[in-house]
Amino acid sequence: MTVRGYVFDAYGTLFDVHSVVEAGRAVTRDPAALSATWRQKQLEYTWLRALMGRYEDFGAVTEAALRWTLRRLELKAGEADVRRLMEAYHSLACFPEVRPALERLAGRPRAILSNGSPAMLEAAVRSSGLGRHLEHVLSVDAVKTYKPAPQVYALGPRALSLPASELLFVSSNAWDVAGAKAFGYRVAWCNRQDAPAEELGLSADVIVTSLAELPL
Ligand code: LAC
Repeated sequence: MTVRGYVFDAYGTLFDVHSVVEAGRAVTRDPAALSATWRQKQLEYTWLRALMGRYEDFGAVTEAALRWTLRRLELKAGEADVRRLMEAYHSLACFPEVRPALERLAGRPRAILSNGSPAMLEAAVRSSGLGRHLEHVLSVDAVKTYKPAPQVYALGPRALSLPASELLFVSSNAWDVAGAKAFGYRVAWCNRQDAPAEELGLSADVIVTSLAELPL
């Protein structure tokens, strides 16, 4: 497979969304449950807003999902806790192999294509020091909807001036793998959690467990 450029999902693929667990300890004894419920609700809200045609940026969606999660789990949390948890979301750690993996792919364009708002992505790229390993940081905000809408995936080929079929889209999120495949990318699924594949009739071209194993 000759790959002419790489397009990466951000949250869960480059950045570890569960690094908010530490900040969650202030409001719950089970911060992993807080983190998992928050993430799932955040994604649901992106899908709902996309379908309703009621876009709000990912920062607003993430905060709304957090507020719902705190109520769902019946956690006592004040505005200061909400602010602290949201700040944690703005300074997520990247997975340990990400920097060397991006370095290994240098020479071909490397892009982020994410639901994240431009401000959130800029903060995450800055806090993880990935800026010099990325040629493009693309946000759904340009088209005001969310993955898996085809308009979102179209941002990659447009920015890189290459057809989707010559780009490798890389995501750890199985549903995002299906969305990118449906659009026409070649797709690598970084299955970090040993998750089952989606039953959507669309499979990744390659499955890896770490970004260090991506095809050159
Ligand atoms: C993103 C979400 C899907 O970064 O993880 O687009």
